[in-house]
Amino acid sequence: MKREQWGSRAGFVLAAVGSAIGLGNIWRFPYMAYENGGGAFFIPYLFAMLTAGIPFMIMEFTMGHKFRGSAPRTLAKINSKFEWLGWFQVMIAAVIGVYYIAIIGWAISYVGLAFTQGWGNDPNAYFFGEYLQLGGDNSPSQLGSIQWHIAIPMIVGWLVTYAALFGGVKGGIERAGKIMMPVLFIMVIALIGRMIFLPGAVDGLNYMFQPDFSRLTDPSVWSAAYGQMFFTLSVGFAIMLAYSSYLPEKSDISNNAVMTVLINCGFSILAGVLIFSVLGYMAQEQGKPLTEVVSAGVGLAFVTIPAAINLLPAPYILGPLFFLALVVAGFSSHISIMEAVTSAFIDKLKWSRRKAASIVCGIGLLVSLAFATNGGLLLLDLVDYFINNIALLASCFIELLLVGWLLKAADIRKHANAVSELTIGVWFDLCIRFLSPIMIAIILANKVIATLTDGYGGYDMSDLLTLGWGLLALMLVISIAVNLKKSKEA
Ligand code: ALA
Repeated sequence: MKREQWGSRAGFVLAAVGSAIGLGNIWRFPYMAYENGGGAFFIPYLFAMLTAGIPFMIMEFTMGHKFRGSAPRTLAKINSKFEWLGWFQVMIAAVIGVYYIAIIGWAISYVGLAFTQGWGNDPNAYFFGEYLQLGGDNSPSQLGSIQWHIAIPMIVGWLVTYAALFGGVKGGIERAGKIMMPVLFIMVIALIGRMIFLPGAVDGLNYMFQPDFSRLTDPSVWSAAYGQMFFTLSVGFAIMLAYSSYLPEKSDISNNAVMTVLINCGFSILAGVLIFSVLGYMAQEQGKPLTEVVSAGVGLAFVTIPAAINLLPAPYILGPLFFLALVVAGFSSHISIMEAVTSAFIDKLKWSRRKAASIVCGIGLLVSLAFATNGGLLLLDLVDYFINNIALLASCFIELLLVGWLLKAADIRKHANAVSELTIGVWFDLCIRFLSPIMIAIILANKVIATLTDGYGGYDMSDLLTLGWGLLALMLVISIAVNLKKSKEA
């Protein structure tokens, strides 16, 4: 069967950018920057972008272009003993896909709420209480019952993803990217255009851009920057390998990769400017220091922003616009996350795209309902922590070793240079073989030790062992088992 292809270069870049720009940029980046010392975060972030993000993106685009397969197939072509890594990555995508849609579902609900500020005067109580109906026992394993007001917007989200995957690479995914990305950029620019002129906005920006160099010696700041980088760029979890496997033979690689990274990271900074302008305004309106008006983590988008919207002029326009931007950014990424899974089944089992998309989205929907329960938020928090801080970093580390040492980084570089507009130098090999794996190894080791000794989030050890470490172990066992089963090659 002939592999599907992108219709145009712009179509591919928009799809890749659509994958990269997502909740990670609008929901996660600003609170990462906030929690990790404001302006100080930019130094490790830029360092991670230059030494890990750009080389990794070039590497994955080249692998996809050269081997033309989903993650398991591409990694198996490099070395058949490593097909498991591809499946491990597919499972990372599958797990992210089922909780990512929950956040999109919240955002869809909040688009509606924003018209009338239906979250009331206390958005904190509303979000955790009335909306999420959070159970009181701080246990992600006590799920309680499905909350249909959360599940229904999630199902709407699944339908959008399903429609795009069902439509195919060119007719579905590429088309979605071409519509969603310009719409997203226009919405965000319109929002920034208004927010940046609010009184107090400049104080927010000062906070965001003022470097606090003392934080640079804190390893957790570096760890956050690296963890954020791979998640935001959609690398290391099967997505960019799948997307670049649909590149026509005559395609640029390096320039597309650098563009994708720069547009994504530029967008994150724009999102940061947007959020911090609003925070600065809110601090001024309430006459409090900025650090006192912010609730970090998940709450930044769903608690602090609604509180700020309450204070804005024309909240019924700016509010829905903000949450709609979050929804659109989320959709284009969710499509790519589920395509990473779908493409693996198409390659391995020779299923038709329609069959694979139906089964993947159908099962995904059912599993994702766990995140629409009373314990959904806690489950999401715990799974997100283990997947992003441990599974994703470990996957990136092994992929770097495999490509850098077994396949040889120089071969990847030569392949990229043979087709690309930009020529990349030996710095690429140094990043892939030494710098990135060493940085990731240190960060990962620290995380694993810290999680083993201190746990995470105050959750019970039994929850950490089953839903955290247990989940990772299960993913590993399944991926190795699939590797052992001989691939039905065409
Ligand atoms: N890259 C996507 C995001 O940042 C997954 O949300």
